[in-house]
Amino acid sequence: MHRRRHYIYPDTQTLVNAFVCEVNKFIRQADKPENSLHIAISGGNTPLAVFDQICRSTRKEDWSNVHLYWVDERCVPWDHDESNYGNARLRFIEPMELPADQIHPINGEAEPGKEADRYAAMLAEHIPFEKGVPVFDWIWLGLGSDGHTASIFPDQLELWGSDRSCVVTTHPETGQNRISLTGGVINAARRISFLVTGKSKAHVVNQIVMKEGNYLEYPAFYVTPQTNYLEWYLDMEATSWM
Ligand code: 6PG
Repeated sequence: MHRRRHYIYPDTQTLVNAFVCEVNKFIRQADKPENSLHIAISGGNTPLAVFDQICRSTRKEDWSNVHLYWVDERCVPWDHDESNYGNARLRFIEPMELPADQIHPINGEAEPGKEADRYAAMLAEHIPFEKGVPVFDWIWLGLGSDGHTASIFPDQLELWGSDRSCVVTTHPETGQNRISLTGGVINAARRISFLVTGKSKAHVVNQIVMKEGNYLEYPAFYVTPQTNYLEWYLDMEATSWM
């Protein structure tokens, strides 16, 4: 039985402020100041609010040993408004002036299958491996209102269990190709945090937490960290079922 910690906040901004405090504490207390911290971030809107808050902070932490990776990416050019890396670059990387050698984006314009393989190989080269998978220090996950996480969707649940670190997936509504980390890599991370806001997610959060309804169809249900510890950062709207 793994331990789950629910942090519930009255609104999104309060959640973001609290999460940024955690990020700053994590970086300050890194138990390996001389080595790198490897953090993988998801796309969507919630991380952007985190980036904005970090950039607004008057007292910024030293990010010089933090390496950023992506949990998933849409197969679009980086200047496309749906690009996870493109949005992070605009809202975080450039304002914080993070050096390019600390940033490891997925190339949304490359041939998806080849890029998934390249990214997996890059992870193998840059990130400590344990039991055959790369082990991130922290992974930030979002949750879709259909129960997806990363870019593993319910209609491609089998990809969660792939033995590859990275796979090509397809958005069920738009048909857009995505490149996504898989469950083995996600669950191996030393720390995993879900950041979930909004009423549209409440029904899925409820089903996953209470193991009710269609929870077995939701990729997010299979986030079962090897550390046996999982954090949910939720705003009140996302828990409106409670
Ligand atoms: C993506 C994501 C995806 C996202 C959820 C939640 O590229 O879309 O990584 O899994 O985290 O859809 O998105 P919001 O943060 O916008 O609710």
